[in-house]
Amino acid sequence: MTDVPLYHVDGELVPAAEATVSVRDRGFLYGDAAFETIRVYGSTPFEWDAHVDRLRATCDLLAIDHRLSDADLRSRVEETLDANDLADAYVRLSVTRGVQPGKLTPDPDVDPTVVVIVSELPRGGREGRPVWDAPATLQTVKTRRVPDRSIPARAKTHNYLNGVLARLELGVSDADEALLLNADGRITEGATSNVFFVADDALRTPNLDSPVLPGITRSVVLDLAREEGIPVEEGSYAPGDLRRADEAFLTNTTWELRPVARVDGIAVGDGPVTALLSRLFDERVEALY
Ligand code: PDD
Repeated sequence: MTDVPLYHVDGELVPAAEATVSVRDRGFLYGDAAFETIRVYGSTPFEWDAHVDRLRATCDLLAIDHRLSDADLRSRVEETLDANDLADAYVRLSVTRGVQPGKLTPDPDVDPTVVVIVSELPRGGREGRPVWDAPATLQTVKTRRVPDRSIPARAKTHNYLNGVLARLELGVSDADEALLLNADGRITEGATSNVFFVADDALRTPNLDSPVLPGITRSVVLDLAREEGIPVEEGSYAPGDLRRADEAFLTNTTWELRPVARVDGIAVGDGPVTALLSRLFDERVEALY
């Protein structure tokens, strides 16, 4: 990584301290923006197609017609990585609706703000160390997951207040991830992670109607489990199902698979299925380069 990080803002590489957007940008004013967190291993963005598809789906849902090709977005990411001399990295790619005249109602004519932020993130893999220091501690919070009818969970937007409120609730407890339930008290996901558990010899995770973000790591893990012949169920679960589980883990792009030590103070922990899927995930990453 270079001494002064360079970020990509609207087509220009600029030193991080000068990487700014307008105070009238709708991403700032309203959270009116789409983003992706992407992990780069050995200069290769992991699951690029899935990330760019999800970014497009978010922009379609918000009607942000940015008119940028996938290749253009990818070259902005690659230019930023090259400029910072990074091969293993965290990337955040944001597309906002930009600055528009008028107030809340979006104008269909969009001049997007496109930002790429990168930082060094050494890969874990079979030989390396994961980015997390310890297994996660999950705490069910009172804040409920926003229903899909209000803000569809499949949209990965700049508006993370649901997760922020959930994390605030953790307060001084030793928990480091909040478990959000839906309006019916069923499990949805963590503030920034999908939840998996093993019970009755099957791998289980809340289905996408729960509502949950269709995590890209979630999807890779489900594929790996199915390829391995592990029974998989995407269903509707109560918090007690998770507390009684034999194993549990969280997934997201930066954590990859992260075992869950405790749920609401009850020990759960990892086990053979978590270990197997973590190894298969590492092998999938290492096969990239
Ligand atoms: N967050 N659910 C939520 C609410 C998330 O914010 C995330 C990811 C996930 C996992 O998705 P994926 O496997 O595609 O990373 C699930 C990223 C890491 C973030 O907030 O930066």
